[in-house]
Amino acid sequence: MNVMVVGGAGYIGSHAVRLLLDAGHTVCVYDNLSLGHREAVPDGLLVEGELSDREKIVSTLRSERIDAVMHFAAFALVNESVNDPALYYRNNVVAALELLDAMREADVTKIVFSSTTATYGEPDVIPIPETTPQRPINPYGFTKLVIEQALADYAAAYGFSYAALRYFNAAGARPDGSIGEDHNPETHLIPIVLQVALGQRERITIFGDDYDTPDGTCIRDYIHIDDLGDAHLRALDRLEPGKGLCVNLGTGRGTSVREIVEACREVTGHPIPEVTGERRAGDPPRLIADATLAKEVLGWTPSYTDVKSIVETAWRWHHSHPQGYASRVKV
Ligand code: UFG
Repeated sequence: MNVMVVGGAGYIGSHAVRLLLDAGHTVCVYDNLSLGHREAVPDGLLVEGELSDREKIVSTLRSERIDAVMHFAAFALVNESVNDPALYYRNNVVAALELLDAMREADVTKIVFSSTTATYGEPDVIPIPETTPQRPINPYGFTKLVIEQALADYAAAYGFSYAALRYFNAAGARPDGSIGEDHNPETHLIPIVLQVALGQRERITIFGDDYDTPDGTCIRDYIHIDDLGDAHLRALDRLEPGKGLCVNLGTGRGTSVREIVEACREVTGHPIPEVTGERRAGDPPRLIADATLAKEVLGWTPSYTDVKSIVETAWRWHHSHPQGYASRVKV
């Protein structure tokens, strides 16, 4: 297929691009480089443009003879969405709708959309099945839910075929260390812990150790970035006109913050000093996927089954690119 990867210069998008190319698809990356990195995109694939620039998207969809779109270009920080909801509604909703309407105009109706566990809010049942009521507790989660709903309506009315993939915690890097996670500022646990091992931070602050979990720290379901990408490719193959697929992407296993820090110590050989700080507002104690549906409908199972192997790939990237893409190492 000819696939347009919107946000293909970002962390998750750039990994999906590599897997699409590995699988023989033709890829066009559409990205405004506001958060993404030019260096993360293979030569010749980048079209620089705004998500809200409908004309440019329509002409790119037509000139590249695009069959399907993968949409990764969203803001994804819960705190930021609480402090600046306008940014989130504008980009994640208004601009995303421009993309959908550009697709209509160009007669492209297949889309794989990045959704999130944040659409569930604070679910009562763990592990979380897809049937859990979606009651987001922050603007980020709401913006993703709005687009899930729009996709369902566009499928019914305009024959769109879509997959909304609800990510748990994406982590790790391409195993050859060529691309990886590079956010500024970095807020995610694993890169921050590895920055301590690199000597860029003195210690890791654990945000609360008085949760109702075995070691008192929050539990998340960390899924390797290539397993996530693999599920996107499988979803692409299963898109059916007028139908939608909403699927969790997690491993079904939970890992606590302390267990992550310990895994990073083992992988790096660095003592990684830690301190316990206040709880971070809005952190649910436990988020674990029920990943049964992904197995059933996508035939997907994660190949990275323990968190240490995920951290190993992240470490290969951070160690070889201590300043991220600014390290000026040829990838
Ligand atoms: N944590 C720390 N110290 C840090 C950073 C994180 O203790 O310095 C803890 C957090 O409190 C949380 C866990 O590590 O318990 C994981 O935090 P991350 O920020 O790495 O990930 P989140 O689970 O908060 O975020 C994930 C995605 C986001 C998405 C969110 C939706 O990475 O993009 O889920 O729920 F918005």
